[in-house]
Amino acid sequence: MAMFDETVSVIENRPLPGGHFLLSLDAPRQAPNVRPGQFAMVRALGRSDVLLRRPMSIFDVQAHGGGRAGSNRKESALRILQLLFKIVGRGTRVMADLKSGDKVGLLAPLGHGFFEEEYLPRAHESDEVLHVAGGIGIAALLLPAKQLAEARFKQRLFFGGRTKDDLVGINEFKPVVSAMLLATENGAMGYRGYVTRPLEDYLTKHTNKKFLLMACGPSAMLRATVELAKRFRHPCLVSMENRMGCGVGVCLGCSIRVQGSGHEAYQRVCTEGPVFWSDKIVWDAESSGLGIRD
Ligand SMILES: Cc1cc2nc3c(=O)[nH]c(=O)nc-3n(C[C@H](O)[C@H](O)[C@H](O)COP(=O)(O)OP(=O)(O)OC[C@H]3O[C@@H](n4cnc5c(N)ncnc54)[C@H](O)[C@@H]3O)c2cc1C
Ligand code: FES
Repeated sequence: MAMFDETVSVIENRPLPGGHFLLSLDAPRQAPNVRPGQFAMVRALGRSDVLLRRPMSIFDVQAHGGGRAGSNRKESALRILQLLFKIVGRGTRVMADLKSGDKVGLLAPLGHGFFEEEYLPRAHESDEVLHVAGGIGIAALLLPAKQLAEARFKQRLFFGGRTKDDLVGINEFKPVVSAMLLATENGAMGYRGYVTRPLEDYLTKHTNKKFLLMACGPSAMLRATVELAKRFRHPCLVSMENRMGCGVGVCLGCSIRVQGSGHEAYQRVCTEGPVFWSDKIVWDAESSGLGIRD
């Protein structure tokens, strides 16, 4: 699988509500090689106070000039790699300062992402694909949703955040999914409460249908989603966002417990993931890495 460690230029770093940013990078070698669900390791150059790269889902890839990647795209024309991020600490604060023309260290694309050969057949067996996103977890789901839309699968997005400012990226999903169910904890937009509640209602109402669930978000939301998938007997893919050191399988800092024994009981989110079938993960043992810090 092609992976490149390059210095690339910032095209635009667009501020969005709630401390979110849409960062567009000119990455002509990396963008055409991206598969849905893969991620990038990002480093703002010239900042010795932030040593480790920060992992970010690849939100979208576009052709030069901002044209959307469509079904009859020439992959070689794709050169813009987009990241959707939220400021949570030092690394993301530095990323928020990036301006057009600044240089960024970009290691990408990483991880195996959503294995087409596994999830497309499961999508074919389903009446509808349900995407379940919590907050910035939405960033991992646009590319698979676009791929499924190109293959004309019916899709529905369940998207929850604390406030309405957490519900970023909705416009990009509008042309891709047939329905969207939003939820905020304070009720400012959509259903009031956790997004897993309307998801549960939907699954309860449609027990005769087959769904494939694809989820990314905070660990509590992921676990609730996985529980629902198990209760209603639907397959579920989760994109994990554990803390990472190297991003390329060397430090083992992102390891999670999976079904199996001996050395097979652990897998690295950065290389074997970040996407896993939910029933493969040992959720009780799952922790967020080994506490990597810089
Ligand atoms: C595969 C993958 C994809 C990701 N995709 C995105 C994305 O598309 N957009 C985005 O904004 N973020 C994404 N993240 C999370 C992002 O990497 C972290 O928010 C970032 O590294 C934090 O760096 P920082 O220096 O700003 O914060 P730090 O100073 O390192 O930490 C600040 C706070 O954030 C918490 N934190 C740090 N990393 C994580 C994490 N991985 N998960 C949960 N909490 C964390 C810390 O515990 C701490 O409370 C992804 C993570 C992974 C592993
Ligand atoms: S982050 Fe180093 S092995 Fe995964």
